[in-house]
Amino acid sequence: MTKAASKPWWTDAVGYQVYVPSFQDSDGDGWGDLPGVTSRLGYLADLGVDVVWLTPFFVSPMRDHGYDISDYRRVDPRFGGDAALDRLLAEAHHRGLKVIGDLVVNHSSDQHPWFQAARDDPGGPFRDYYLWRDPAPGGGLPNNWSSVFGGPAWTFDARSGQYYLHLFLPEQPDLNWHNPRVVDEVDAIMEHWLGRGLDGFRVDTAAFLMKHPELPDNPALPPGEPHPVLGAAPEWRLLDHVYDIHQPEVHQIHARWRRRADRHDAFLVGEIYELDPEALAAFVTEERLHSSFYFGLVDSAWDPARIRTALRAAATASPRLSWVQANHDRPRPPSRYGGGATGVRRAMALHVLDAFLPGVTWLYQGEELGLANGVIPRGRAADPLAAADPTQSRDVARTPMPWAPGPGLGFTTGEPWLPEGGRTGADTVAVQRDDPASSFHAMRRLLAARKRVLARSPAAQGLTWRDDAADDLVVYRRGGVTVAINLGDTPIAAPPLDHPVVFDSDDPSVTLDRPGTITTLAPYQAVVAAAP
Ligand code: NOJ
Repeated sequence: MTKAASKPWWTDAVGYQVYVPSFQDSDGDGWGDLPGVTSRLGYLADLGVDVVWLTPFFVSPMRDHGYDISDYRRVDPRFGGDAALDRLLAEAHHRGLKVIGDLVVNHSSDQHPWFQAARDDPGGPFRDYYLWRDPAPGGGLPNNWSSVFGGPAWTFDARSGQYYLHLFLPEQPDLNWHNPRVVDEVDAIMEHWLGRGLDGFRVDTAAFLMKHPELPDNPALPPGEPHPVLGAAPEWRLLDHVYDIHQPEVHQIHARWRRRADRHDAFLVGEIYELDPEALAAFVTEERLHSSFYFGLVDSAWDPARIRTALRAAATASPRLSWVQANHDRPRPPSRYGGGATGVRRAMALHVLDAFLPGVTWLYQGEELGLANGVIPRGRAADPLAAADPTQSRDVARTPMPWAPGPGLGFTTGEPWLPEGGRTGADTVAVQRDDPASSFHAMRRLLAARKRVLARSPAAQGLTWRDDAADDLVVYRRGGVTVAINLGDTPIAAPPLDHPVVFDSDDPSVTLDRPGTITTLAPYQAVVAAAP
């Protein structure tokens, strides 16, 4: 396959993250699987999705629910096995949907044959696939690095008297990216899946791969200034991560992958927790990754001034970012934004803000329903991070997708692997589909309006922000489209919009075919106006 001559397919695409264990179970074992996803592709296409990201479905002991892979070339039988992926891809492509996988190669599982061989045979060819170090002089850990999931980043192997590095669980040993054989192995894995029809990858911990070759201690952050990225154990947040992650050599790996991906017309989107827009933009160029998630919104509580400044800076730094408010690692947006109906309205306002920025706009499963955090009863935690810090538990974002009221929520006929999360009937797809004023319909209208106006808008890449807007008002223009959002809790006079309103978060009757007008924006109301 050659690179597409015209606009790449992911330009202005709508992405949807499926957390496979919790999306749809097809065989009653309480665990989501690929046949389950296949049965819901119609739902995704109807919602307006272009590309589906499937979280890891490879063979895994599931210590981190698939982010610990023991066979990179096979689909885990619990997810339905290889044939299930073939069917999913055929059905998705038939519907015009793209499907990307999850490339988890900062680490493997400790059950991977490479690691088993590395541990069993310290003089053998696989030892150098991982990072082994002698104890520090006088004994003890080789350096002060900590695991994202808590505790030291080193585990002692009594057999060889050395430690191995793991930036996540001890069961997730880090691969040695300075070893060219590791580079070649991963090239072959990518080729395998791109050849089998995957349309690209979300790259897990994309900026972690390379470590400083001398593995120096990381400096401590000044007291009272913890690392800005949440979703990590408290001790990880005390260090300034200058030597363990985000090493410049990682760009060479990304560039190598980019060339391969382009040969397949495939898309690479990085998981890069870099909040500085310029630094993030350096990962996303014509030679490096096609896109990266911008994570400036995934942790934050509701703070209109910060949101406005952060999004503007990021969109100005790069036209290729992937906009997200949520994923399987962070609390759900309506809960972060104060909960209840206000939390849902605020999340929707930010979806509209994101949706017309240049780049790819993403939903995490259930955002289209305005879902708040799932409730996890005491003693039912499944996330390894919950053991290090229960307040950071990722389970709240991973409870089953609520398809329909009743036991199992239409997710499973069995006992779900995580509790159902305390969902109400009003949270479910079945109920929201029957209510034109639901979050589901607002999202569906938003995505449809986005697709149509961006397709016809001239100069769709140009982006200008109105500086004179009132404090809580965000107004930007892209080509012939104007987006206006009230991020505040009091009504504001609407700015001049110049064109008919084609989307209104508060009025289901407004569509491209039946435009509206607007004079006042209610709290968290978001509207889009577009040249006919
Ligand atoms: C990021 C993934 O999103 C997360 O779920 C996982 O635990 C870590 N990477 C380790 O692979």
